[in-house]
Amino acid sequence: ISDDTPPETLRERSLAAVADHINAGRARRIVVMTGAGISTAAGIPDFRSPETGLYANLAKLDLPEPEAVFDLRFFEKNPKPFYVLAKDLYPGNFHPTVSHTFISLLAKKGLLHQLFTQNIDCLERAAGIPSELIVEAHGSFASQRCIECKAPYPEDLMREHVARADVPRCIRAGDCGGLVKPDIVFFHEALPMLFYDRKDLIEKADLALVMGTSLQVHPFAGLPNYVPEGVPRVLFNMERVGSLGTQADDVLALGDCDAGVRELADLLGWREELEAQWRGL
Ligand code: APR
Repeated sequence: ISDDTPPETLRERSLAAVADHINAGRARRIVVMTGAGISTAAGIPDFRSPETGLYANLAKLDLPEPEAVFDLRFFEKNPKPFYVLAKDLYPGNFHPTVSHTFISLLAKKGLLHQLFTQNIDCLERAAGIPSELIVEAHGSFASQRCIECKAPYPEDLMREHVARADVPRCIRAGDCGGLVKPDIVFFHEALPMLFYDRKDLIEKADLALVMGTSLQVHPFAGLPNYVPEGVPRVLFNMERVGSLGTQADDVLALGDCDAGVRELADLLGWREELEAQWRGL
């Protein structure tokens, strides 16, 4: 730590300093950026962890490369691998984690300025985070449509097809017959406009939490760099990623994210409330 850190910033790079920052009322607009790492404890594999990540376990789908399963051009030619995977990922059987609950606690306390998530599992909504505070930057399984005519596809029919790992096709009147795809952002697809509309909120943040992401996929991976100098950025992740750790006020809480948020909750005096809220979900 450079000892010429200006007085108004965190005295030391620790969760205790972050807790003081929040309890002193200096963090009222907290932005949170999350990835698959906050859902692994729910039983949903992340993408890039060496042994357990999805991309290490798609061999059975004999893809040209793992990411092809989320590539629009590949999907148009061969949608079957995606629907085999969708059966394992589809929302409904998973429970929000302590990390999801911590974010919903921030919202409950009026401290959550905006959550940007890359996850498609809808666990943020299940954790009770108000939908107007969530940007699902890579879309989600919450809705689906025909990729040709864009006609929405009924959820009940989608659930039936996903349960059978069958490929659903457009049922709009007429002979469309196009492939149906959940509103997940595939590679070579644009992110939702909401992502670009809400990105500016990051410049107003007075604290940023980055949780469970490898920060490998742009433009999402660039979000932490919009946090102004002098605003603390806390990384809850197994390993250091992106530019975290290079700014004077960065705090690296490396390790399991649920353990990290539990430690911060203890320091904030929120631990009981956190566990009760999680049990109550
Ligand atoms: N606690 C802390 N960190 C964890 C945990 C955990 N329990 N589990 C996993 N991680 C970390 C991993 O070490 C890794 O750094 O979370 C990160 C997950 O990274 P990825 O698997 O790359 O997931 P993510 O960053 O969300 O991927 C981004 O890639 O394929 C695309 O669109 C897909 O949204 C996804 C995007």
